[in-house]
Amino acid sequence: MTAYRDARGDVAILVPAAGLGVRMGGGTPKALRTLCGEPLLVRAIRNVTAAPSVGIVVIAAPPDDVERVRAMVTPSPVRTLVVPGGATRQASVAAALSAVPAEFDLVLVHDAARALAPPALVEAVAARLRAGAEAVVPAMPVADTVKRVGDQDEVVATVDRSVLRAIQTPQGFRRATLAAAHAGAVDDHTDDAGLAEHLGVRVDTVPGDDLAFKITRPFDLVIAEALLASAAITERSRSIDSTEDATTGEG
Ligand code: CTP
Ligand code: MG
Repeated sequence: MTAYRDARGDVAILVPAAGLGVRMGGGTPKALRTLCGEPLLVRAIRNVTAAPSVGIVVIAAPPDDVERVRAMVTPSPVRTLVVPGGATRQASVAAALSAVPAEFDLVLVHDAARALAPPALVEAVAARLRAGAEAVVPAMPVADTVKRVGDQDEVVATVDRSVLRAIQTPQGFRRATLAAAHAGAVDDHTDDAGLAEHLGVRVDTVPGDDLAFKITRPFDLVIAEALLASAAITERSRSIDSTEDATTGEG
C-alpha cells in the first residue's frame, strides 16, 4: 500500500518558533540558538521538508526576527512562509494557521524546539489523518514513576503510569478542526490537541519517537549535540525514502 505516495505535498506544516527560550537561559530566542553551528529552526525545517507529505511550511518567527528567519530558511525545497509569532505559543500557531492557503485540508503543527524529530514521524501523523483521523498526536510511554504532590510538595498519591503518555509534535489535524479549536479557545493551552479535546474532538495517537524530544533546557542542547554527532541520527534524518514503506500502513 502506498497511500501517501499519491498524496505528496498535501500537508501544510506550521512551525511555532517565536518563543523566548526562558528555560534555556534567555537572551536569544530559542529557535535561533545554534545546535552544532546551525540554528535549531534551520535543523527543524530541514527535517520537516524531507517528509514528502509536506507541501508548505509556515513559520511563526520572533516578531523582531522575521526577515532574519526568512533569510535563514531560503532557499528551501518546499514553499516556505514566515509570519510574526504572538505572545504565546497558541497565538503563534493561530497566526501561522491564518496564512495557510485554502487548498490545504491537512495541517500539522510542529515545535521548532523539537528540531530532531525525524521526517518519518511527520509521515506517520499525516498517514493517520488520511486514514480518517480528525486529530493525531505522537505519544510516548512514561518511563518514570509519577506521583501527585500537595501544597508543600509532599507526595499525595502514585499515579498509574500505564494509562499516561507524554505527547510530542508534530500534531496533525483536519484544517477545519484546528481552526475551530483555535477559534473556540478560552484559555491558554500548551498544545493544539488540548484545544481540540476541549471541543470534544477525538484525538488519536501514533507511536512517538525519542528524537522528537523538546529541546527545553541547556541539558537538552547537550543531548541534541551528542545525538547529532552520532551516525544513526544522520541516517534517519537524511531522507524518508528508506522508511516510507514502513510507515505507509499506519492507520
Ligand atoms: N513558541 C512560539 N511563540 C511563543 C511561545 C512559544 O512560537 N510565544 C514556540 C517555541 O518557539 C517553541 C514551541 O512553541 O518552538 C514550544 O515552546 P517552548 O519549548 O516552551 O519554547 P519557548 O517558549 O521558547 O521556551 P520557554 O517556555 O522556556 O521560554
Ligand atoms: Mg514556552
